[in-house]
Amino acid sequence: MMTIKLDGKKLAEKVKTRLIQRIADLKSKGIKPKLVVILVGGDEASKIYVRNKHRTAQKLGIETQDIRLQRTVKESELLTLIKTLNADDSVHGILVQLPLPEQIDAKGVINAIKPEKDVDGFNPQNVGSLFLNDPHSLPCTPAGILQFFEEYHLPVCGKHVVIVGRSNIVGRPMAAIMLNHDATVTITHSKTKNLRKLTRQADILIVAIGKAEFITGEDIKPGAIVIDVGMNRNENGKLVGDVEHSSVNERASYLTPVPGGVGPMTIAMLMEQTVNFAERSAD
Ligand code: GUN
Repeated sequence: MMTIKLDGKKLAEKVKTRLIQRIADLKSKGIKPKLVVILVGGDEASKIYVRNKHRTAQKLGIETQDIRLQRTVKESELLTLIKTLNADDSVHGILVQLPLPEQIDAKGVINAIKPEKDVDGFNPQNVGSLFLNDPHSLPCTPAGILQFFEEYHLPVCGKHVVIVGRSNIVGRPMAAIMLNHDATVTITHSKTKNLRKLTRQADILIVAIGKAEFITGEDIKPGAIVIDVGMNRNENGKLVGDVEHSSVNERASYLTPVPGGVGPMTIAMLMEQTVNFAERSAD
């Protein structure tokens, strides 16, 4: 079977192009979309993610503010900063890059971000609304994955979606989104018994478990749609996904590459979310 590549790089460009007119319209009303990104400490991967977010925003004419805090910053200081940003009408989106250092309670920080400015969709109020099928904002990675289904006209209704991984960032919100689109959803994780028996039943398999090449060709149903959210370095230092592409290729009907699949979509959706919030602030 010929496997069709779900091209995230191309689709992300399309999403960003759609935003240009909306940003121009906002500016004609005197509103400049603004995203504030807070990075605590110097985690190397986080620095790269944050830099990419700023670069993309700048290219689109979305204003960004880059706030870097020492790894040893006090939680109270971070909470005070979020309070100030919550009250600042020129700020439309606030993102605190995760993971946070140990002395900081990430839950408290996420709770502190005003739901209307929570571009990640991680605040419990936004998570709750999503699970009640009345979303205010969608977490960026699952929102980006959903775009593939729309772009390539891949039906979700009635399909068996199996998700591997139950993180708050991908697995759980992805399950809610697919359920909201009338899929039958199974969530599997590191403690699931006979996990591979379940993945073989998936019409749509979404893998976000953070283990290099965890899913192989034998673990999928022929013709399945496979979404690989992983970004891992293998023992040779090569960037690989959570899916072994050499064996899944030719067996899946559609597959997201790594890199160039889900990754670019996450950033594009963050930009879209910021623009959505800026538009709502004008209403
Ligand atoms: N760290 C890894 N992914 C994400 C994300 O989507 N949002 C935030 N805030 N931090 C992350």
